Order: sequence, then structure tokens, then C-alpha cells
Amino acid sequence: MAKIKIEGKHILTGEVPISGSKNSAVALIPAAILCDEEVKISNVPNISDIDSLEEILSCLNVKVSRDENTLTIDSSKMINREIPEEMTKKLRASYYFMSSLLGKYKHVEMYFPGGCTIGERPIDQTLKGYRALGATVIEDGDHYTIDAKELVGSRVYLDMPSVGATINTMLVAVRAKGKTIIENVAKEPEIANVATFLNNMGAKIKGAGTDTITITGVNYLHRSFHEVIPDRIEAGTFVILGCLLGENLKIKNVIPSHIEALTSKLIEAGANIQIGDDEIIVNRCEKYRAVKIKTLPYPGFPTDLQQPIIPFLTQCTGVSTVEETIYENRFQNIPDTILMGADILVKNNRLAKIKGVTPLYGADVSATDLRGGASMLICALIAEGTTTIDNIKYILRGYDDICQKLSNIGAKIELI
Ligand code: EPU
Repeated sequence: MAKIKIEGKHILTGEVPISGSKNSAVALIPAAILCDEEVKISNVPNISDIDSLEEILSCLNVKVSRDENTLTIDSSKMINREIPEEMTKKLRASYYFMSSLLGKYKHVEMYFPGGCTIGERPIDQTLKGYRALGATVIEDGDHYTIDAKELVGSRVYLDMPSVGATINTMLVAVRAKGKTIIENVAKEPEIANVATFLNNMGAKIKGAGTDTITITGVNYLHRSFHEVIPDRIEAGTFVILGCLLGENLKIKNVIPSHIEALTSKLIEAGANIQIGDDEIIVNRCEKYRAVKIKTLPYPGFPTDLQQPIIPFLTQCTGVSTVEETIYENRFQNIPDTILMGADILVKNNRLAKIKGVTPLYGADVSATDLRGGASMLICALIAEGTTTIDNIKYILRGYDDICQKLSNIGAKIELI
């Protein structure tokens, strides 16, 4: 099992380019199979979650090729076969295929998706969307058989603004008959990115990015070219690092408005952040103030940056709080953070109190999940001495070329 070894306390300077968004790309790829012609998707990050989706495409007899960061996907010879359980279990986004296959063939068999173990993560809202459009769902343990004589547009109100259920319902509705109105949808930028892609292929989707999405079904989706938006969580991770270790650290290819909840919080803590049109320059400061954070659906503070910001909060004077409202199990890496010297108290797995300032010291730790792994990386980079992070497969699921990017800006990091 690969590990990362990091010698802490080195200044980070120079430029770091942000890759395409994981959570956008992992939805765009399954969306591409709704089309019967060739589509190209550029700015696709080089991460293992994308490798897992390419494996699923091959299993469905979809031709896929990669030229640097552009994927060409040709579904003209696709076969609607059941995706093996081990492939669906590798990542959450595998269930976007369930929706595209249902939308296209009106029949799909599939297993419950995988993903980081950060909470229960049920799929009831996705199934509610399928049923509203006329599908019958037979659940047998975590195996689903879904059929529809006809998919007919309908009104769907989501119990919570779920990213996955919003995208899944959109994917099914695109080729359904008539109009679908989805209310209380998620507003994450990835949703609008997927809607734009589908519209470029001929879909009729309005309202992505607002509370209500309206989709008028079409019979055919045609060839298209689309670019993945920058990864706001990767960008946010580097902004946090810049606050701790940056000297004119320039983070390039960012959409700053996508991470405003983070940058405004860091500025409230006293950070020196210069925000440009598509780049952010960060310089570390000597002193920061404690702040209160509560995770919320977009445009609130993202749960995916909750773990990465905790190392920063250990360096703020006073008691900071982090309230996690989205997932039940997103403080898994706190014991390792404490092992490195942090003073953190977690209550009911929902609230963390972080008392700062505490110096951190190198230790042997582990990545418990993707963002927990990113959090440990940040701890290691600011710690005195050397840290070894085990289980880095989680980090590689979502951070493109992370070791090289960090090494290019001055980190002493080694893959072992
Ligand atoms: N939920 C339900 N029922 C559902 C769907 C969701 O109860 O049918 C609950 C979930 O349990 C959770 C909340 O609603 O408590 C939000 O879940 P959501 O469906 O929005 O999350 P997701 O689509 O499974 C995506 C990202 C996550 C990110 C969340 C929230 C992908 C592949 N994953 O997950 O990303 O945390 O949205 O922004 O897009 C990550 O990148 O590390 C990651 C976990």
C-alpha cells in the first residue's frame, strides 16, 4: 500500500494550477452515455475515481479514449448490461450510470453505489425521482431492478437539496416524455455544469443553479464538446495551505465565487487573500483568530472543506467550532489530528471544538477518507518533523497529481 512521507514546515511559493472538478467530471461522464454520438469532455482530472468510471464505460461497451485531459466517449455500440458489484462499490458516482441507463433503455439493474464512508448516504431521493417519472423499483438488499414502460415528466420535491438526487433526476428526465419540475434541488456549481453539458447535447433544462429545475424531455441527444469547471474543493485546499505556509502562493484556474464561503471565513480569521478573476494569491500571516463554521449545502460552507480547514483552526488563537450538518461521520480523522498535537473535542460526531494555537508534530497517521486524507496532508505540511500518511488511495481518488503539485511549490513530499 502506497504511503506519503512529508517533512513539514517548508514554505509554499510559486504557482499551482487547479484541475477539473472531480464531482463535476464524475457526473459528466455517465451523462455522456445519454448521447448516441461521440462526445468530448476536456479538463478531466487525472484521479482514480475517473479510472473507475472508465472501467464501467468499457464494461458497457462504450469506447473511451484519453488524450491528456480530454476524454472522448462514443456510446454508439453501448450494451445495457449490469455493472459488476465491485465496480459500482468503488465510488458514489457509479449510480449516475443507473440514471442514464434508465433514461435511455427504461430498464436498469444495479447495486447500491460506494463512496467514502462519511455517513449513511441513502439513495431514497433518487428512487423517489425515478418513481415520480413512472419507474417501478424493486429493491433486493442492495440490488435494484428498475423498469418503466414509459418515463413521463412529473413534479418532484426533494426532501433535502441532494446533489446526487438532483443530478440523477435530471439525467432520467432529459429523455422522458413531457415536462419535469424538480423542486428544492441542490445548487452546487457542478449541477449547472452538468445541465449545460446536457443542454449542449440538445436537452432542454432551465433553472440549474436555482431552487427549481425544469426539464422538457427530448428524444435525441447529439454530439458535443464540454469543459469541466475547476475543482473548488482542490482550490480551497490550496487556499487553506497558502494561509498556513504561503509566500505569494498563486492558485490558478479558480472560479473565486465558488469558494467564497471559505475565503470569507479565512478573511474573518485574519487571512491575507488577494482574489483575482481566475486566480487567488495567498500569503501566510503570523496570527489568526478563532472562527465558527457550520457546513451547509451550496452556497454555504462546503462539507468537503470542513476536514481540510481543521488544521488551519488549530493555528487560530482561541476556540473555533465546526458544526457538521451534512454527514454523520466526517470527524473520522480527528484522532490522528490529536495524535499530531491538536486540542480537539468532538461532541456527538456533529460538533468539533478546536482550541488553538497548538503546534503539530510529525507522526504515523492514516487517510480515513478523501477529505480526511487532505486534512492529514495539511497537518503534515505544517507539522514539525516528518509525517507518514498511510492509505493514500483515498487522497488519490480526488486530488490530481497532488504530490507533484505540492513538490513544485516547495513541499518536501515523497510517495513511498
Ligand atoms: N441524502 C439522503 N437521501 C438521498 C440523498 C442524500 O438522505 O437520497 C442525504 C445524505 O445522506 C447527506 C445529504 O443528504 O446527508 C447530502 O447528500 P448529497 O446527495 O447532496 O451528497 P452526494 O451527492 O452523495 C456529493 C459529493 C460529495 C459532497 C456532497 C455534498 C459527488 C460524487 N459527491 O455527494 O463529495 O460531499 O455532494 O456537497 O458529487 C467528496 O468529494 O469528498 C464528497 C464526499
